[in-house]
Amino acid sequence: MQLFLRLVCYRIKMKEKLAKIAQAAEAEIATAKAEELEAIRVKYLGRKGELTQCLRGLANVPAQERPQVGQLANQLKHKLEELIETKSGSAKTKQLSGLADKEWLDTTILPTKHLLGSRHPLAQLQRKLEAFFTSIGFELADGPHLEDDYHNFEGLNIPPDHPARDAHDTFWLKNGKLLRTHTSTVQVHILEKRKPPFRIIIPGRVYRYEAIDASHENTFNQLEGFMVDEGMSMEHLLGILQTMLEHIFGCKVKVRFRPSYFPFVEPGAELDMGCLLCNAKGCRTCKNTGWIEMLGCGMTHPKVLELGGFDTHKYTGFAFGIGIDRLAMMLHKINDIRLFNGADLRELRQF
Ligand code: PHE
Repeated sequence: MQLFLRLVCYRIKMKEKLAKIAQAAEAEIATAKAEELEAIRVKYLGRKGELTQCLRGLANVPAQERPQVGQLANQLKHKLEELIETKSGSAKTKQLSGLADKEWLDTTILPTKHLLGSRHPLAQLQRKLEAFFTSIGFELADGPHLEDDYHNFEGLNIPPDHPARDAHDTFWLKNGKLLRTHTSTVQVHILEKRKPPFRIIIPGRVYRYEAIDASHENTFNQLEGFMVDEGMSMEHLLGILQTMLEHIFGCKVKVRFRPSYFPFVEPGAELDMGCLLCNAKGCRTCKNTGWIEMLGCGMTHPKVLELGGFDTHKYTGFAFGIGIDRLAMMLHKINDIRLFNGADLRELRQF
């Protein structure tokens, strides 16, 4: 009888204990923060947890009561596990949706177009010319844009009152200086400093006092070539210029010399190239001649070499002046020179 009472008491005690655990644990879970849930799980359901201990104590419950109490304890275990699970699940969801608020990404936005810059068409062509001439042994040189009369005219056999000055519409400065009208000025600087043999190219900007229209600019670019050595002839000049044009245009070209006049060369010539648009048959671009004027050139005038103090019986030279803008117009079939200095990005981005 006594044993029976004890067992009943035990059962009642167990039930109370379970109820207490249920009450306390549920309250704790309800108010817990996400990071506290694990501690609560350990406290009640861990190896030494309160509920786990209770379950172990089931052994002391009389056999006939055990299923009922055991069921209660197990139900409580599952309930607590479920509560913790649900709560931590919703905490996670909450955390994730919070994250989505902070770190959202609109996948429907079109990607921004990253515009890569490119070289100006004239710079591209200048570099191509430089690469060609340096590959056949020419050196690169530079010279001042602000010049004096001597280097722009007199040193090139263009004395004062010479009619050739008219062809160079010049920007004069108040101090008597001028903006160079061609890159031939650098020939004079070279002759003052260097001894033959030499072969040099001088790319650079030049200035002319011109009204601007589709085929005239007041600021444009030339590439001067200047070679002095023993036994130089027009044949060397023609060969180099033809090879240069074939390199730039990437195809065979026909060339010819047409007599022309520049005071610092004798004989002077203009080099024409067979029109690539009509295969030299004649079209609007070549004015039905089949030829396109490309550049001025010639054998260096002995007077110019004498100014440099060189023996003109021993040394001969040639010079040429390529209009880079003009060549670029031919190359890209551009019919308005103003495009180059116009800074219209829609045009320039095509290159
Ligand atoms: N300097 C000349 C010009 O600008 C071009 C040229 C250069 C002609 C060299 C002959 C030799 O018109």
